Amino acid sequence: MPKSAAVAAQAKSAGKATSETPNGLGVDAVSEISAELRPLLADTFALYLKTKNFHWHMTGRHFRDYHLLLDEHGDQLFAMTDEIAERARKIGGTTLHSISDISKHQRLADNNEESVNAIDMLKELHADNRALTGYMRTAHEVCEKHNDVATTSLIEVWIDQTERRSWFLAEIVSEF
Ligand SMILES: [Fe+2]
Repeated sequence: MPKSAAVAAQAKSAGKATSETPNGLGVDAVSEISAELRPLLADTFALYLKTKNFHWHMTGRHFRDYHLLLDEHGDQLFAMTDEIAERARKIGGTTLHSISDISKHQRLADNNEESVNAIDMLKELHADNRALTGYMRTAHEVCEKHNDVATTSLIEVWIDQTERRSWFLAEIVSEF
């Protein structure tokens, strides 16, 4: 069943008119926006856990700085997850349910290496944060198309935070 039909069926079974959604965006908009937010949430969870993984396994002479930096980044990413999920629910869509759902939708790759050196960790996080910015820009375009100003506004804040993480990481890795 196409996604918009699934949302319509869901609305119908809940006793609502099919064109109605909580904020009046319409079924097609909710379907398309939720379909953008779902992988974005999966990527944010994946990057959160990778950032914490590197925070936990950091080594070397800049341990304290890098360990603390990645803790800050992890906190930002974790805060984003709830906002993304609740935004999807607020407009009448659904979102992720489980770790397996995350792994099904994530576009950013996990890193299960036993040992990674500090600079390689930071380079990988830099690349992932850059990629995340790209995914958010795409999601922003979809929200803009449907005049979902609140989601576009949230995405703008997340992009700013992600660019700040990329900036800090870029400054460190540019020396290597
Ligand atoms: Fe910690």
